[in-house]
Amino acid sequence: MAYSVKVLDHYENPRNVGSFTKDEEGVGTGMVGAPACGDVMKLQIKVGKDGVIEDAKFKTYGCGSAIASSSLVTEWVKGKSLDEALEIKNTQIAEELALPPVKIHCSILAEDAIKAAVADYKKKQDDK
Ligand code: FES
Ligand code: FES
Repeated sequence: MAYSVKVLDHYENPRNVGSFTKDEEGVGTGMVGAPACGDVMKLQIKVGKDGVIEDAKFKTYGCGSAIASSSLVTEWVKGKSLDEALEIKNTQIAEELALPPVKIHCSILAEDAIKAAVADYKKKQDDK
């Protein structure tokens, strides 16, 4: 299958690959898997005292579209509030990357990973 130019760009030069240490202040971790193909995506956000996402990192064990989707969303969430980050829809990701129908679930994985990371961050704040 031919990947779009934007997918290839993010796939070949993924942004923000890596991870924060678990106990770092303000970190939320989202780990999600795609039942359709078994791919796994880990996405982390680092939230500042003002509630704004300062940084994001990801590790994705999956196809090019999943890697591109996670790379793209780590760029998108930076500078956003948690509520704004939750508004990111997989359809926006799919549109930006021009994903074909069979690769839509890869973008859903990215949306789910952000939601999971925000939920984890909030849970950690509540547990304090
Ligand atoms: Fe999982 Fe794409 S099917 S690698
Ligand atoms: Fe399964 Fe991309 S995440 S094919």
